Amino acid sequence: MPEERTEQPHIVTCTAPVNIAVIKYWGKRNEDLILPINSSLSVTLHQDQLKTTTTVATSRSFQEDRIWLNGKEEDITHPRLQSCLREIRRLARKRRNDGDSGVDSASLSHKVHICSVNNFPTAAGLASSAAGFACLVYTLARVFGVEGELSGIARQGSGSACRSMYGGFVQWIMGNKEDGKDSLAQQVEPETHWPELRILVLVASAERKPVGSTSGMQTSVKTSCLLKHRAESVVPGRMVEMTEAIRKKDFAAFAELTMKDSNQFHATCLDTYPPIFYLNHVSQQIISLVHRYNKHYGETRVAYTFDAGPNAVIFTLQQHVPEFVHVVQHFFPPETNGADFIKGLPVNCASLSEELKQGIGLEPMPKGINYIISTKVGPGPCVVEDPTQQLLSSDGFPKKMM
Ligand code: DP6
Repeated sequence: MPEERTEQPHIVTCTAPVNIAVIKYWGKRNEDLILPINSSLSVTLHQDQLKTTTTVATSRSFQEDRIWLNGKEEDITHPRLQSCLREIRRLARKRRNDGDSGVDSASLSHKVHICSVNNFPTAAGLASSAAGFACLVYTLARVFGVEGELSGIARQGSGSACRSMYGGFVQWIMGNKEDGKDSLAQQVEPETHWPELRILVLVASAERKPVGSTSGMQTSVKTSCLLKHRAESVVPGRMVEMTEAIRKKDFAAFAELTMKDSNQFHATCLDTYPPIFYLNHVSQQIISLVHRYNKHYGETRVAYTFDAGPNAVIFTLQQHVPEFVHVVQHFFPPETNGADFIKGLPVNCASLSEELKQGIGLEPMPKGINYIISTKVGPGPCVVEDPTQQLLSSDGFPKKMM
Protein backbone atom coordinates (compact mmCIF):
# COMPACT_ATOMS: atom_id res chain seq x y z
CA MET A 1 0.00 0.00 0.00
CA PRO A 2 1.53 3.38 -0.95
CA GLU A 3 2.02 5.87 1.82
CA GLU A 4 -1.07 7.95 2.39
CA ARG A 5 -0.49 11.51 1.30
CA THR A 6 -3.98 12.91 1.07
CA GLU A 7 -6.23 14.03 3.91
CA GLN A 8 -8.94 11.63 2.66
CA PRO A 9 -9.67 9.11 5.42
CA HIS A 10 -8.96 5.44 4.83
CA ILE A 11 -12.39 3.77 5.35
CA VAL A 12 -13.34 0.10 5.87
CA THR A 13 -16.78 -1.39 6.63
CA CYS A 14 -17.46 -4.92 7.90
CA THR A 15 -20.31 -6.92 9.39
CA ALA A 16 -20.30 -9.57 12.12
CA PRO A 17 -22.86 -12.07 13.43
CA VAL A 18 -24.61 -12.79 16.71
CA ASN A 19 -23.91 -16.18 18.29
CA ILE A 20 -26.00 -18.26 20.69
CA ALA A 21 -24.24 -20.55 23.13
CA VAL A 22 -25.50 -24.12 23.46
CA ILE A 23 -22.84 -24.83 26.09
CA LYS A 24 -22.78 -21.63 28.15
CA TYR A 25 -19.89 -19.47 29.23
CA TRP A 26 -20.51 -18.14 32.74
CA GLY A 27 -17.65 -17.08 34.99
CA LYS A 28 -14.14 -15.70 34.57
CA ARG A 29 -10.86 -16.77 36.12
CA ASN A 30 -9.23 -13.52 35.00
CA GLU A 31 -11.36 -10.38 34.74
CA ASP A 32 -8.85 -8.21 32.86
CA LEU A 33 -7.95 -10.68 30.14
CA ILE A 34 -11.48 -12.19 30.12
CA LEU A 35 -10.42 -15.79 30.66
CA PRO A 36 -13.33 -18.15 31.35
CA ILE A 37 -13.68 -20.90 33.95
CA ASN A 38 -15.01 -23.29 31.30
CA SER A 39 -15.01 -23.81 27.55
CA SER A 40 -18.22 -23.03 25.63
CA LEU A 41 -19.79 -23.77 22.26
CA SER A 42 -22.12 -21.71 20.10
CA VAL A 43 -24.04 -21.49 16.86
CA THR A 44 -23.46 -18.44 14.66
CA LEU A 45 -26.73 -16.90 13.48
CA HIS A 46 -27.23 -15.67 9.92
CA GLN A 47 -26.38 -12.03 9.28
CA ASP A 48 -29.33 -11.54 6.93
CA GLN A 49 -31.40 -11.38 10.10
CA LEU A 50 -29.02 -10.33 12.88
CA LYS A 51 -25.78 -8.44 12.44
CA THR A 52 -23.64 -5.53 13.50
CA THR A 53 -22.18 -3.25 10.83
CA THR A 54 -19.09 -1.23 11.69
CA THR A 55 -17.23 1.40 9.68
CA VAL A 56 -13.76 2.50 10.77
CA ALA A 57 -12.00 5.51 9.28
CA THR A 58 -8.42 6.64 9.92
CA SER A 59 -6.96 9.97 8.96
CA ARG A 60 -4.01 12.10 9.95
CA SER A 61 -6.50 14.94 10.38
CA PHE A 62 -8.43 13.23 13.20
CA GLN A 63 -7.66 14.73 16.60
CA GLU A 64 -8.69 11.76 18.76
CA ASP A 65 -10.19 8.28 18.66
CA ARG A 66 -14.02 8.50 18.64
CA ILE A 67 -16.91 6.04 18.56
CA TRP A 68 -20.60 6.30 17.66
CA LEU A 69 -22.90 3.39 18.58
CA ASN A 70 -26.37 3.22 17.07
CA GLY A 71 -26.25 6.91 16.28
CA LYS A 72 -24.95 8.17 19.61
CA GLU A 73 -21.39 9.12 20.49
CA GLU A 74 -20.06 6.92 23.30
CA ASP A 75 -17.09 7.06 25.62
CA ILE A 76 -14.02 5.72 23.81
CA THR A 77 -12.12 5.39 27.10
CA HIS A 78 -14.21 2.32 28.03
CA PRO A 79 -11.50 -0.17 29.17
CA ARG A 80 -12.67 -3.01 26.92
CA LEU A 81 -12.71 -0.77 23.85
CA GLN A 82 -9.25 0.42 24.79
CA SER A 83 -8.02 -3.21 25.10
CA CYS A 84 -9.21 -4.00 21.56
CA LEU A 85 -7.72 -0.82 20.07
CA ARG A 86 -4.42 -1.31 21.90
CA GLU A 87 -4.09 -4.99 20.93
CA ILE A 88 -4.83 -4.38 17.23
CA ARG A 89 -2.35 -1.49 17.10
CA ARG A 90 0.22 -3.63 18.91
CA LEU A 91 -0.16 -6.46 16.37
CA ALA A 92 -0.02 -4.00 13.48
CA ARG A 93 3.20 -2.49 14.88
CA LYS A 94 4.69 -5.94 15.36
CA ARG A 95 3.88 -6.92 11.78
CA ARG A 96 5.39 -3.71 10.52
CA ASN A 97 8.55 -4.21 12.56
CA ASP A 98 8.77 -7.80 11.32
CA GLY A 99 8.58 -6.37 7.82
CA ASP A 100 5.71 -8.61 6.72
CA SER A 101 2.96 -6.08 6.41
CA GLY A 102 1.92 -3.52 3.87
CA VAL A 103 0.68 -1.10 6.49
CA ASP A 104 2.02 2.38 5.96
CA SER A 105 3.68 3.74 9.06
CA ALA A 106 1.57 6.88 9.07
CA SER A 107 -1.74 5.10 9.53
CA LEU A 108 -0.53 3.50 12.77
CA SER A 109 -0.23 6.86 14.42
CA HIS A 110 -3.54 8.02 12.98
CA LYS A 111 -6.60 8.29 15.17
CA VAL A 112 -9.72 6.28 14.32
CA HIS A 113 -13.38 7.15 13.97
CA ILE A 114 -15.65 4.15 14.60
CA CYS A 115 -19.34 3.96 13.80
CA SER A 116 -21.42 0.88 14.52
CA VAL A 117 -25.10 -0.10 14.17
CA ASN A 118 -27.13 -3.24 14.80
CA ASN A 119 -29.99 -4.33 12.55
CA PHE A 120 -31.86 -5.47 15.68
CA PRO A 121 -32.83 -3.72 18.94
CA THR A 122 -29.75 -3.44 21.19
CA ALA A 123 -31.83 -3.63 24.32
CA ALA A 124 -33.66 -6.80 23.26
CA GLY A 125 -30.97 -8.84 25.01
CA LEU A 126 -29.77 -10.47 21.79
CA ALA A 127 -26.04 -10.72 22.51
CA SER A 128 -25.31 -7.39 20.85
CA SER A 129 -21.96 -7.04 22.62
CA ALA A 130 -20.71 -10.25 21.00
CA ALA A 131 -21.49 -9.10 17.46
CA GLY A 132 -20.37 -5.57 18.31
CA PHE A 133 -16.89 -6.41 19.60
CA ALA A 134 -16.36 -9.08 16.93
CA CYS A 135 -17.19 -6.50 14.27
CA LEU A 136 -15.01 -3.83 15.86
CA VAL A 137 -11.96 -6.12 16.04
CA TYR A 138 -12.49 -7.52 12.53
CA THR A 139 -12.85 -4.05 11.02
CA LEU A 140 -9.90 -2.55 12.92
CA ALA A 141 -7.76 -5.50 11.80
CA ARG A 142 -8.64 -4.75 8.16
CA VAL A 143 -7.88 -1.07 8.59
CA PHE A 144 -4.46 -1.70 10.10
CA GLY A 145 -3.61 -4.66 7.85
CA VAL A 146 -3.59 -7.27 10.62
CA GLU A 147 -4.33 -10.86 9.57
CA GLY A 148 -4.64 -14.24 11.23
CA GLU A 149 -5.94 -15.14 14.69
CA LEU A 150 -8.15 -12.34 16.06
CA SER A 151 -10.51 -14.17 18.44
CA GLY A 152 -8.10 -13.58 21.34
CA ILE A 153 -8.53 -9.83 20.84
CA ALA A 154 -12.33 -10.00 20.39
CA ARG A 155 -12.42 -11.99 23.66
CA GLN A 156 -10.95 -8.99 25.46
CA GLY A 157 -13.92 -6.91 24.32
CA SER A 158 -16.52 -9.38 25.54
CA GLY A 159 -15.95 -13.08 26.22
CA SER A 160 -18.70 -14.33 23.94
CA ALA A 161 -17.46 -12.04 21.12
CA CYS A 162 -14.57 -14.40 20.37
CA ARG A 163 -17.11 -16.98 19.12
CA SER A 164 -18.64 -14.42 16.69
CA MET A 165 -15.31 -14.35 14.79
CA TYR A 166 -16.31 -17.56 12.97
CA GLY A 167 -19.36 -18.87 11.17
CA GLY A 168 -21.11 -22.19 11.72
CA PHE A 169 -20.52 -24.03 15.00
CA VAL A 170 -17.79 -22.56 17.17
CA GLN A 171 -16.03 -23.54 20.38
CA TRP A 172 -14.18 -21.24 22.73
CA ILE A 173 -11.43 -23.31 24.30
CA MET A 174 -10.83 -21.99 27.81
CA GLY A 175 -7.07 -22.62 27.67
CA ASN A 176 -4.83 -22.86 30.71
CA LYS A 177 -2.08 -20.28 30.18
CA GLU A 178 -1.88 -17.36 32.56
CA ASP A 179 -1.51 -14.86 29.71
CA GLY A 180 -4.61 -16.17 27.88
CA LYS A 181 -2.76 -16.84 24.63
CA ASP A 182 -4.48 -20.24 24.32
CA SER A 183 -7.99 -19.02 25.22
CA LEU A 184 -9.30 -18.83 21.65
CA ALA A 185 -12.30 -19.60 19.46
CA GLN A 186 -12.21 -22.31 16.85
CA GLN A 187 -14.69 -23.44 14.22
CA VAL A 188 -16.08 -26.92 14.94
CA GLU A 189 -18.12 -27.20 11.71
CA PRO A 190 -18.79 -24.65 8.94
CA GLU A 191 -22.18 -22.99 8.32
CA THR A 192 -22.89 -25.38 5.44
CA HIS A 193 -22.65 -28.44 7.69
CA TRP A 194 -26.28 -28.72 8.87
CA PRO A 195 -28.49 -26.87 6.36
CA GLU A 196 -31.79 -28.09 7.84
CA LEU A 197 -31.12 -26.53 11.23
CA ARG A 198 -33.34 -23.51 11.93
CA ILE A 199 -33.32 -20.95 14.72
CA LEU A 200 -36.26 -18.94 16.04
CA VAL A 201 -35.57 -16.01 18.35
CA LEU A 202 -38.65 -15.44 20.51
CA VAL A 203 -38.41 -11.85 21.68
CA ALA A 204 -40.20 -11.86 25.02
CA SER A 205 -39.41 -8.36 26.12
CA ALA A 206 -37.45 -5.42 24.80
CA GLU A 207 -36.52 -4.23 28.26
CA ARG A 208 -32.95 -4.05 29.42
CA LYS A 209 -31.73 -7.07 31.33
CA PRO A 210 -31.86 -6.69 35.12
CA VAL A 211 -28.29 -7.82 35.90
CA GLY A 212 -25.64 -7.59 33.18
CA SER A 213 -23.67 -10.76 32.37
CA THR A 214 -20.37 -9.25 33.50
CA SER A 215 -21.48 -8.47 37.05
CA GLY A 216 -23.86 -11.45 37.20
CA MET A 217 -21.10 -13.96 36.50
CA GLN A 218 -18.79 -12.19 38.95
CA THR A 219 -21.26 -12.78 41.78
CA SER A 220 -21.82 -16.37 40.62
CA VAL A 221 -18.07 -17.12 40.67
CA LYS A 222 -17.84 -15.73 44.21
CA THR A 223 -20.88 -17.45 45.66
CA SER A 224 -22.10 -20.48 43.68
CA CYS A 225 -20.60 -23.89 44.42
CA LEU A 226 -22.89 -25.30 41.74
CA LEU A 227 -21.07 -23.13 39.19
CA LYS A 228 -17.71 -24.50 40.35
CA HIS A 229 -18.99 -28.04 40.02
CA ARG A 230 -20.45 -27.27 36.58
CA ALA A 231 -17.19 -25.77 35.28
CA GLU A 232 -14.96 -28.51 36.67
CA SER A 233 -17.03 -31.63 36.33
CA VAL A 234 -19.91 -31.09 33.89
CA VAL A 235 -18.83 -28.86 31.01
CA PRO A 236 -15.72 -30.83 29.91
CA GLY A 237 -17.84 -33.92 29.13
CA ARG A 238 -20.59 -31.83 27.57
CA MET A 239 -18.15 -30.15 25.17
CA VAL A 240 -17.21 -33.59 23.81
CA GLU A 241 -20.84 -34.74 23.64
CA MET A 242 -22.02 -31.55 21.94
CA THR A 243 -19.24 -31.60 19.34
CA GLU A 244 -20.15 -35.20 18.56
CA ALA A 245 -23.92 -34.45 18.29
CA ILE A 246 -23.17 -31.60 15.87
CA ARG A 247 -20.71 -33.63 13.84
CA LYS A 248 -23.29 -36.42 13.45
CA LYS A 249 -26.20 -33.95 12.98
CA ASP A 250 -28.01 -35.86 15.73
CA PHE A 251 -30.81 -33.38 16.46
CA ALA A 252 -32.23 -35.15 19.53
CA ALA A 253 -28.81 -35.33 21.20
CA PHE A 254 -28.01 -31.71 20.24
CA ALA A 255 -31.41 -30.48 21.44
CA GLU A 256 -31.45 -32.30 24.77
CA LEU A 257 -27.96 -31.19 25.70
CA THR A 258 -28.77 -27.60 24.65
CA MET A 259 -31.81 -27.52 26.96
CA LYS A 260 -29.99 -29.19 29.84
CA ASP A 261 -27.11 -26.76 29.60
CA SER A 262 -29.41 -23.74 29.50
CA ASN A 263 -31.25 -25.10 32.54
CA GLN A 264 -28.01 -25.70 34.42
CA PHE A 265 -26.79 -22.19 33.65
CA HIS A 266 -30.05 -20.74 35.08
CA ALA A 267 -29.73 -23.09 38.05
CA THR A 268 -26.30 -21.58 38.77
CA CYS A 269 -27.95 -18.16 38.62
CA LEU A 270 -30.44 -19.26 41.25
CA ASP A 271 -27.56 -20.74 43.26
CA THR A 272 -25.83 -17.34 43.13
CA TYR A 273 -26.24 -15.33 46.33
CA PRO A 274 -28.21 -13.10 46.17
CA PRO A 275 -29.89 -15.07 43.37
CA ILE A 276 -30.21 -13.82 39.80
CA PHE A 277 -33.39 -14.43 37.79
CA TYR A 278 -33.17 -14.11 34.05
CA LEU A 279 -36.18 -16.24 33.19
CA ASN A 280 -39.63 -14.73 33.65
CA HIS A 281 -43.10 -16.26 33.45
CA VAL A 282 -43.07 -16.06 29.64
CA SER A 283 -39.76 -17.96 29.53
CA GLN A 284 -41.19 -20.60 31.86
CA GLN A 285 -44.26 -20.95 29.66
CA ILE A 286 -42.01 -21.44 26.60
CA ILE A 287 -40.09 -24.15 28.45
CA SER A 288 -43.35 -25.98 29.25
CA LEU A 289 -44.57 -25.52 25.69
CA VAL A 290 -41.42 -27.07 24.20
CA HIS A 291 -41.48 -30.08 26.54
CA ARG A 292 -45.20 -30.68 25.95
CA TYR A 293 -44.77 -30.33 22.18
CA ASN A 294 -41.93 -32.86 22.14
CA LYS A 295 -43.88 -35.20 24.39
CA HIS A 296 -46.90 -35.02 22.11
CA TYR A 297 -44.80 -36.36 19.24
CA GLY A 298 -42.78 -38.73 21.38
CA GLU A 299 -39.55 -37.25 19.99
CA THR A 300 -37.36 -34.20 20.55
CA ARG A 301 -38.25 -31.89 17.67
CA VAL A 302 -37.61 -28.54 19.34
CA ALA A 303 -35.10 -27.17 21.88
CA TYR A 304 -34.87 -23.90 23.83
CA THR A 305 -31.97 -21.98 25.25
CA PHE A 306 -31.92 -18.73 27.27
CA ASP A 307 -29.06 -16.31 27.95
CA ALA A 308 -28.94 -13.46 30.46
CA GLY A 309 -32.50 -12.35 29.66
CA PRO A 310 -36.00 -13.72 29.12
CA ASN A 311 -35.85 -14.19 25.32
CA ALA A 312 -35.92 -17.77 24.11
CA VAL A 313 -33.83 -19.05 21.25
CA ILE A 314 -35.43 -22.12 19.70
CA PHE A 315 -33.60 -24.73 17.61
CA THR A 316 -35.54 -27.03 15.31
CA LEU A 317 -35.35 -28.61 11.86
CA GLN A 318 -36.76 -26.88 8.78
CA GLN A 319 -39.64 -29.36 8.43
CA HIS A 320 -41.03 -28.50 11.89
CA VAL A 321 -40.80 -24.69 11.63
CA PRO A 322 -44.30 -23.90 10.21
CA GLU A 323 -46.16 -25.97 12.78
CA PHE A 324 -44.08 -24.87 15.75
CA VAL A 325 -44.33 -21.19 14.83
CA HIS A 326 -48.10 -21.58 14.70
CA VAL A 327 -48.09 -23.32 18.05
CA VAL A 328 -46.20 -20.32 19.48
CA GLN A 329 -48.63 -17.93 17.81
CA HIS A 330 -51.59 -19.87 19.25
CA PHE A 331 -50.30 -19.95 22.82
CA PHE A 332 -48.90 -16.40 22.72
CA PRO A 333 -51.52 -14.55 20.67
CA PRO A 334 -49.92 -11.34 19.33
CA GLU A 335 -51.34 -7.89 19.81
CA THR A 336 -51.88 -7.26 16.10
CA ASN A 337 -53.31 -9.72 13.60
CA GLY A 338 -49.89 -11.30 13.41
CA ALA A 339 -48.64 -9.57 10.26
CA ASP A 340 -45.42 -8.34 11.88
CA PHE A 341 -45.17 -11.22 14.29
CA ILE A 342 -42.79 -13.26 12.15
CA LYS A 343 -39.66 -11.53 10.88
CA GLY A 344 -36.73 -12.96 8.94
CA LEU A 345 -36.90 -16.12 6.85
CA PRO A 346 -40.44 -16.69 5.51
CA VAL A 347 -42.51 -19.30 7.35
CA ASN A 348 -45.13 -21.34 5.51
CA CYS A 349 -48.69 -21.64 6.78
CA ALA A 350 -49.66 -24.60 8.92
CA SER A 351 -52.87 -25.66 10.58
CA LEU A 352 -52.95 -26.91 14.13
CA SER A 353 -55.00 -29.97 15.03
CA GLU A 354 -57.31 -29.81 18.04
CA GLU A 355 -55.49 -32.87 19.30
CA LEU A 356 -52.18 -30.97 19.36
CA LYS A 357 -53.69 -27.90 21.08
CA GLN A 358 -55.38 -30.13 23.66
CA GLY A 359 -52.23 -32.21 24.04
CA ILE A 360 -50.18 -29.14 24.92
CA GLY A 361 -52.98 -27.95 27.18
CA LEU A 362 -51.58 -24.57 28.28
CA GLU A 363 -53.54 -21.40 28.92
CA PRO A 364 -52.78 -18.91 26.12
CA MET A 365 -50.72 -15.91 27.27
CA PRO A 366 -51.67 -12.90 25.13
CA LYS A 367 -48.84 -10.55 24.12
CA GLY A 368 -46.26 -12.66 25.98
CA ILE A 369 -44.02 -12.63 22.91
CA ASN A 370 -43.46 -9.44 20.91
CA TYR A 371 -42.21 -11.09 17.73
CA ILE A 372 -40.26 -14.01 16.32
CA ILE A 373 -37.09 -13.74 14.21
CA SER A 374 -36.74 -16.77 11.98
CA THR A 375 -33.15 -17.48 10.94
CA LYS A 376 -30.54 -20.17 10.30
CA VAL A 377 -26.85 -20.88 10.83
CA GLY A 378 -24.64 -18.31 9.15
CA PRO A 379 -21.12 -17.27 8.21
CA GLY A 380 -18.55 -15.27 10.19
CA PRO A 381 -17.59 -11.59 9.79
CA CYS A 382 -17.13 -10.19 6.30
CA VAL A 383 -15.99 -7.04 4.52
CA VAL A 384 -18.63 -4.85 2.88
CA GLU A 385 -17.28 -3.69 -0.48
CA ASP A 386 -20.22 -1.44 -1.45
CA PRO A 387 -19.19 2.12 -0.47
CA THR A 388 -22.85 3.20 -0.19
CA GLN A 389 -23.10 0.94 2.88
CA GLN A 390 -20.45 2.88 4.80
CA LEU A 391 -21.65 4.44 8.03
CA LEU A 392 -19.08 7.26 7.90
CA SER A 393 -19.02 9.72 5.03
CA SER A 394 -15.88 10.63 3.12
CA ASP A 395 -14.94 13.19 5.79
CA GLY A 396 -14.94 10.39 8.39
CA PHE A 397 -17.99 11.58 10.35
CA PRO A 398 -21.30 9.68 10.77
CA LYS A 399 -23.48 9.96 7.70
CA LYS A 400 -26.68 10.64 9.57
CA MET A 401 -27.86 10.43 13.13
CA MET A 402 -30.28 7.55 13.49
C1 DP6 B 1 -25.16 -16.05 29.16
O1 DP6 B 1 -19.77 -12.45 26.87
O2 DP6 B 1 -21.67 -10.95 27.60
O3 DP6 B 1 -24.63 -15.17 27.01
O4 DP6 B 1 -17.35 -11.56 28.91
O5 DP6 B 1 -18.39 -10.17 30.69
O6 DP6 B 1 -18.64 -9.51 28.29
P1 DP6 B 1 -18.48 -10.66 29.28
O7 DP6 B 1 -19.82 -11.51 29.21
P2 DP6 B 1 -20.67 -11.99 27.96
O8 DP6 B 1 -21.42 -13.24 28.60
C2 DP6 B 1 -22.26 -14.07 27.86
C3 DP6 B 1 -22.97 -14.99 28.77
C4 DP6 B 1 -24.07 -15.83 28.13
C5 DP6 B 1 -23.54 -17.21 27.74
C6 DP6 B 1 -22.71 -17.30 26.49
O9 DP6 B 1 -22.88 -16.52 25.55
O10 DP6 B 1 -21.88 -18.24 26.47
